[in-house]
Amino acid sequence: MCGIVGYLGPLDPKEVIITGLKKLEYRGYDSAGVAILHDGKTKQIRALGKLKSLEDKLSSEKFNGRLGIGHTRWATHGAPSERNAHPHQVGDISLVHNGIIENFEEIREELLKQGAKINSDTDSELVAHLICIENKKTKNLLTAVQNILPRLVGAFSIVVFSEDQPEEIVAFKDGPPLVVGILPDQLFVASDVQALLPYTQNFVYLDDREIVHIQKNKFTVFGPKGKAVNKEIVELNWSPELTEKQGYAHYMLKEIYEQPRAVAQALEPHLDVSQFCVKLKKLGFGTTSTQQLESLNSAEDWKKTQEVFKQTERVFIIACGTSYYAAMIGKYLLESLAKIPVEIDIASEFRYRSPVIPKNTLVLTISQSGETADTLAALRLAKSNGATALSLCNVRNSSIDREAHGHLYMNCGPEIGVASTKAFISTLALLNALSVAWGRIKGALTEAQEQEHVKALLAVPSQLEVVLSYDKYFAQAADRLKEFKGFLYMGRGLQYPIAMEGALKLKELAYMHAEGYAAGEMKHGPLALIDDRMAIVMLAPSDQWYEKTISNLEEARARGGHVISIGTGDNEKLKRVSLYYLSLPKSHWTTSMLLSVVPLQLMAYHLADNLGYDVDQPRNLAKSVTVE
Ligand code: M6R
Repeated sequence: MCGIVGYLGPLDPKEVIITGLKKLEYRGYDSAGVAILHDGKTKQIRALGKLKSLEDKLSSEKFNGRLGIGHTRWATHGAPSERNAHPHQVGDISLVHNGIIENFEEIREELLKQGAKINSDTDSELVAHLICIENKKTKNLLTAVQNILPRLVGAFSIVVFSEDQPEEIVAFKDGPPLVVGILPDQLFVASDVQALLPYTQNFVYLDDREIVHIQKNKFTVFGPKGKAVNKEIVELNWSPELTEKQGYAHYMLKEIYEQPRAVAQALEPHLDVSQFCVKLKKLGFGTTSTQQLESLNSAEDWKKTQEVFKQTERVFIIACGTSYYAAMIGKYLLESLAKIPVEIDIASEFRYRSPVIPKNTLVLTISQSGETADTLAALRLAKSNGATALSLCNVRNSSIDREAHGHLYMNCGPEIGVASTKAFISTLALLNALSVAWGRIKGALTEAQEQEHVKALLAVPSQLEVVLSYDKYFAQAADRLKEFKGFLYMGRGLQYPIAMEGALKLKELAYMHAEGYAAGEMKHGPLALIDDRMAIVMLAPSDQWYEKTISNLEEARARGGHVISIGTGDNEKLKRVSLYYLSLPKSHWTTSMLLSVVPLQLMAYHLADNLGYDVDQPRNLAKSVTVE
């Protein structure tokens, strides 16, 4: 979950590294540091807190070397502090690390016995010690790294250089992502392509247990057995501006406002707007490389997708956090529209619960980043049990995307705010389209029903524009929410996962206690919590669950709870019984959750912002959770 940048070339390494780290701060932000060559010696500068503190420290520093590495940290071993910040320097060696070395205690003991002077509480520094010892013996950084790797247990990536070999960087990946950025006379390495987009669009994605040896104007990738391997160079066509705030106060706000476009972009490749039908495009079952996927024949690919869906008898949807709430919605939609049995799992539970995976199972993983360690491990487990793996993710060429058999893309552009918003909504739109397509393939939906669903989906972007235009009312409601000691978010059916998501948004942004509940469950326990300091956020759009939801709302009111309700149109009843009533445009029951989540996102955003919290980088969190 840390961010790594390394550079070898003619530009000022300080500029390249800081530019890159700014784009990676979403990965961790408790401390940061750089190690850059100057007059043939390593200058290591680190600072506690956000990258800005490091930038301030670096402002008067000059470097004349061609090589450097930098890091922004999300603490695992050792509290956030300057001495635990990366890079770690041991002798000639400077190292940055992302991930966890599980056997660090044993290595620490051994190093202490040998008289090593250990300066931090991290597992990372120990790796620098091991490499330093080997480098002294071999006088070869690449060999030194190769020799110590068998000692390390865990999931981690490292990037290392040695002062005595000033034109070389060695990087290794086994778990957290690493990409090599390529230009004719300069080479980069980073945790994410976003860090390098201002410089290059050409990337090599490292696979697990691969080492890259970067030298002046050339790089070599070695596979797990130590042999050089040929890697595909992927050319992206991304504008660096996609990762700017573009006038919004925060990335999160920008991303919330991008949602109408995000939904349109997610659906665009898959909807035939002349026939109002769904033809999922380029899922690529059976392809093995980005190039193959790009050059697929759409008709053949659609035939293959239909075959896969026809033979699937059961679906498992696996994800974490917000993506898991999307999975809950996926279950509702696939079961109602495609009549296919679906199980859903939190990835960290699935991988350790000995799941029974019958034959003809398709596992659908949902992950914005495509790097979430638990989701990746769950996908591997499912594959090894014979399941077909379909990935729904935002980041192309991410680990999950690369390891899945089939690929659906959120297509919503980089999501930088740590709280997921536009990726969630794009996922919901795709799950809806997927369920409609599958329903048709299975014969569970008629052509007329398919058309009805497609029309409902096509209406969503403009309905979202309407919801966003009510932002000032959401901000007013948020102002009142400050008064309460706790929050119960409730809904039924497709609104139940939205209630969970709304509560998560409030927890992660405003640090307030909130629970998401199925409204019908309230009387089985949480009702005891309700008094006049408890706010009930009730999701009650006009759908088949409306009447039952209203009964639950009355139960909460009778116990003194204050209600903020979200419903459809000008609902007099809800207005009468609520402290605040927030209205949504009329929509189809299968798309209303795409609208109702927006007030919850914006209320959490405004509340957190009013309280002075950092909405883009909430405390203790990071965007891409590459540790289990
Ligand atoms: O990248 P992923 O979708 O796999 O991430 C999963 C969760 O870590 C993520 O959704 C997290 O819950 C967000 N902070 C929620 O806003």
